[in-house]
Amino acid sequence: MYSDRINRLPPYLFAAIDEAKAKIIAKGVDVIDLGVGDPDQPTPAHIVESMCQAVRDPSTHQYPSYTGLLEFRKAAAQWCRQTRGLDIDPVSETLTLIGSKEGVAHVPLAFINPGDVVLCPDPGYPVYKIGTQFAGGKEHIMPLLEENDFLPDLEAIPKDTLAKAKLMFINYPNNPTSATADLKFFEEVVQFAREHNIVVVHDNAYSEMVYDGYQSPSFLSVDGAMDIGIELYSMSKTYNMTGWRLGFAVGNRDLIAGFGKVKSNIDSGAFDAIQRAGITALTSSQQCVADMNNIYTERRNVLLKGLRELGLDVKPPKATFYVWARVPEGYDSMGFSKLLLENAGIVATPGVGFGQYGEGYIRFALTKTVPRMNEAVERMSKLKL
Ligand SMILES: Cc1ncc(COP(=O)(O)O)c(C=O)c1O
Repeated sequence: MYSDRINRLPPYLFAAIDEAKAKIIAKGVDVIDLGVGDPDQPTPAHIVESMCQAVRDPSTHQYPSYTGLLEFRKAAAQWCRQTRGLDIDPVSETLTLIGSKEGVAHVPLAFINPGDVVLCPDPGYPVYKIGTQFAGGKEHIMPLLEENDFLPDLEAIPKDTLAKAKLMFINYPNNPTSATADLKFFEEVVQFAREHNIVVVHDNAYSEMVYDGYQSPSFLSVDGAMDIGIELYSMSKTYNMTGWRLGFAVGNRDLIAGFGKVKSNIDSGAFDAIQRAGITALTSSQQCVADMNNIYTERRNVLLKGLRELGLDVKPPKATFYVWARVPEGYDSMGFSKLLLENAGIVATPGVGFGQYGEGYIRFALTKTVPRMNEAVERMSKLKL
């Protein structure tokens, strides 16, 4: 009944956890869910208000432009200039996305022919591999290892693979490891991509979720990056807008044009009212972002203290709202997440769900309030490991 591409989808590794979670909830356990990376706080009021006004304007009710409202693209380009000093043309170098997941899933269709190779980080956001497969490409896994600070070892990619490689996904600040990358790494990527003729897609969904004074650099700010790459930005985590579905791509104009061709044949653009709310988010005071980051910092500190008391090896993340921890001796990632769920009522994501190199780790999302984080830590302290 299903196409080969559906039949070839990898098994859904979270199914066992979902099932166990449903059983625990049915028993009446007060579950603390630190599994999904979905902000718990509402979208800031000024953004919601802007949407309410926009949706009352009938001119927003018609088909949007394929490439996105020019005013939204101008706001995105201006935001890129203000936050990262990028010089982006809103007309030819910017594209509105219906969330960055849509971008990740569709971008291979523009550049990948059957049999071409896409370099995908592992552990990583699963859509890199799925988008590759849906486009008929073959993924080549770039392991993100702790001893390499969770950066891929570009030199380790075999020559015959490189000959077929057309596209590379990178993602810093990183989901799930919460690792960050510096400009030196981005420079290496640009040089490598130019040498081997590879398009680079930098998924920057966590660009603004930063702590302790850290600022995440832009891949596109490196010399030569605009020749070979694009960056995907997301409104989801930055402005608590996961449900709204809005993001944007910026970068090389030919790449943006190719990507735009795919989108104009598949979707009909993001709802104009949502883009108007997006303009408000990007052009208003960014205090709401700083406030959220302070909230996540406090939660992070509570969880880190608790995990360390438990003997788990964790480094404080400088970015993202994830804590990536090694599971205790004697457990694999699935086994430890089952233990957390069944004996402490805590949902966390087993690292293996992000790929084979995620085995041995578990991911906690900082999506519950400080009192709930304290409660989670308290429950974990009673576990017998
Ligand atoms: C690394 C990464 N990229 C992209 C996305 C998709 O974000 P959205 O489609 O909400 O913009 C996510 C969401 O969790 C993510 O973790």
